[in-house]
Amino acid sequence: MAIHFHEQTGVFILETQHSEYQMRIGRLGYLQHLYYGGPAGGSEMSHLVRQADRGFSGNPYDAGEDRTFSLDTLPQEYPAFGSGDFRESSLRAVYADGSSDTDLRYRSHSIFSGKAVLKDLPSFHGGEGEVETLEIVLSDALTGLSVALQYNVFAEKDIITRSAVIKNESGQPVQISRVLSCSLDYADGKGYEYITFYGRHAMERNEERTPVRHGEIVASSIRGASSHQQNPFVILCEQGADEEHGRCYGLSFVYSGNFIAGAQLDQFDSLRLYMGIHPEGFNWLLKAGESFATPEVALCYSGEGLGELSRRFHRACRENLCRGVWRDRRRPILVNNWEATYFDFDDDKLVKIAQEASQLGIEMLVMDDGWFGKREADVSGLGDWTVNEKKLRGGLGSLCERVNALGMKLGIWFEPEMVSEDSDLYRAHPDWVLRSPGRKGVRSRCQFVLDMSRGDVVDYLFEAISRVLSSANIAYVKWDMNRHLTNVFSAKLPAGQQGEIYHRYMLGVYELLERLTGAFPEVLFEGCSGGGGRFDAGMLYYTPQIWCSDDTDAIERLQIQYGTSFGYPISAVGAHLSACPNHQTGRVTPFDTRALVAMAGTFGYELDISRLSPEEKQQVREQTAFFKKNYALISGGDYYRLTGPAKNPTYAAWEFVSPDRGRALVCYVAIHAQANAAFTYLYPRGLRPQGRYAFTVSDEQYLLTGAAIMQGGIPMPRLSGDYRSLTIELEEV
Ligand code: GLA
Repeated sequence: MAIHFHEQTGVFILETQHSEYQMRIGRLGYLQHLYYGGPAGGSEMSHLVRQADRGFSGNPYDAGEDRTFSLDTLPQEYPAFGSGDFRESSLRAVYADGSSDTDLRYRSHSIFSGKAVLKDLPSFHGGEGEVETLEIVLSDALTGLSVALQYNVFAEKDIITRSAVIKNESGQPVQISRVLSCSLDYADGKGYEYITFYGRHAMERNEERTPVRHGEIVASSIRGASSHQQNPFVILCEQGADEEHGRCYGLSFVYSGNFIAGAQLDQFDSLRLYMGIHPEGFNWLLKAGESFATPEVALCYSGEGLGELSRRFHRACRENLCRGVWRDRRRPILVNNWEATYFDFDDDKLVKIAQEASQLGIEMLVMDDGWFGKREADVSGLGDWTVNEKKLRGGLGSLCERVNALGMKLGIWFEPEMVSEDSDLYRAHPDWVLRSPGRKGVRSRCQFVLDMSRGDVVDYLFEAISRVLSSANIAYVKWDMNRHLTNVFSAKLPAGQQGEIYHRYMLGVYELLERLTGAFPEVLFEGCSGGGGRFDAGMLYYTPQIWCSDDTDAIERLQIQYGTSFGYPISAVGAHLSACPNHQTGRVTPFDTRALVAMAGTFGYELDISRLSPEEKQQVREQTAFFKKNYALISGGDYYRLTGPAKNPTYAAWEFVSPDRGRALVCYVAIHAQANAAFTYLYPRGLRPQGRYAFTVSDEQYLLTGAAIMQGGIPMPRLSGDYRSLTIELEEV
């Protein structure tokens, strides 16, 4: 059993392999947070909660004259607005009479094995033996609003997921203006750092560490998508925590829309972490008897540093978040025509690329943007999901047959959520876009956003996309989204419900993904949003891989993929070898370095294969063979960041270790060549200390124990020239 309830003390204990979470039904029925951290060895942690008479921190009326009992200072599990806690609340409800304070007290709880699937939302999943659930119902006796807090314990994986279901049992409509998924209080919040992942289009997920200070540090998005700008994955760690040491907590939001994730240090050095849908632009009308389910947050604790935290997320994302046949199957090595041709292609050009690729071990051609409607450039055609037969003579079926005849699969690009002003769809349904009455609307990449909150829009897209996918043997879909939401107004909903659109938009996107992945279970879906603008745990539920960035420069990718690896597994990271000079930066890097970096991901190519030199083609043959041979190790092994851009600006290294620790692959890129440089030593991790490993580094052969390698390091040869790289394959003998 991973979940225990101690009747006498009212304490709940949630146990995973390496962590423990405690809370209690406290005085007056308030649910108090006690502890989250390493296993506490059977002790209840109620002593951590201290009370004192604090000026300006009020007391619930029924606490009588006890001025030490205040919700403003008690650690809580799900604080509600207006009840005397002045910190960030999880819930704000406005009742029919205009009042907006909610007083939540314990009502009941239940514990069961397994986990209910969240309705209409992505979520972690697991079988009966794998996950246990605790549901605690809190309610407000006066207003009849109740909150069912869900705690799902994936003990083996060291993951606890949290969400909440708000139910209106008041008999009258209630407006919910704020509803978060998770709040986590630390009685002693001193000495922590908050790690967030900021970025921009073509440079996503840069790691940023900020000492937690009084006030708040917030990562958020109000763009209608999780965004390139901030990622909905954050870490709280003790100051100075590194890859191997330190207490760390990760929070991953299983949601792809607006979010807020904050760390608030209060007047008494208590810390509150919170995560959920961003309250900006949010207002939900909860009619009598209705419920609202929040998206889920996945929590993970590691007492052994950031590396272990990431590996725990990696395993759980791979096995308990991704679904479908492609969760476990080896994904095809693909060639994408975007950077090879952009919009300038026809069937013959594509077949030529496929022909060359098929000789080199590449397994799939992905036809990117431009195959449909009137789409010669990015200003028209979105929404018209019918094949442009001027480009694809003979149609999609014929192209597919020609590609399949080469032994290659065919994949295809869609941008379902968008419409071009110049499109038949927009001319037929101008009211299908998000746009406020009387306004022209903000254009972005010359396109508008479809109102995904509308059932008729979702139905249209399901039919249009299904028609294409059924018309030929399509093996893969790249699902793109190339602008953010503005003028968020739906012609379909009444004035009083316009605050629901951002969330209803996401529910529409998820519904469409659910229907399509259900109808086409063999098709591999890859998420994308101008690269990695929607790289989040929500999308991974539907698309087991996501295009990581529109920046394909290998050296920039070192940093982007480094940041991405904190919360997301290698098997999810869409990465391709592209042309040089690189199209985004103009940088020239060696062919093998480009391959090595793209292999820290799903691996593919994005350049005109037919223009490669014979030597390069031979390299491609070797690369694809190498990747296939090492696929299980790379995509299913344990990933170790051996360096970081801040600490090691002149080189980068990472490592994959097989689950049985018998094999490891160390990858090294020397970023800046230096004259008369010091020797660089790499310190691989995760090996069996007593095991003996054979490996070769630039012709030099080694046979060393795992302990010797991990303690003493491996000296790297001095590579002359920028951006040179090498791999070391360690094999236990
Ligand atoms: C986005 C994607 C690219 C490509 C283009 C096509 O930017 O991230 O990979 O598909 O759209 O327009």
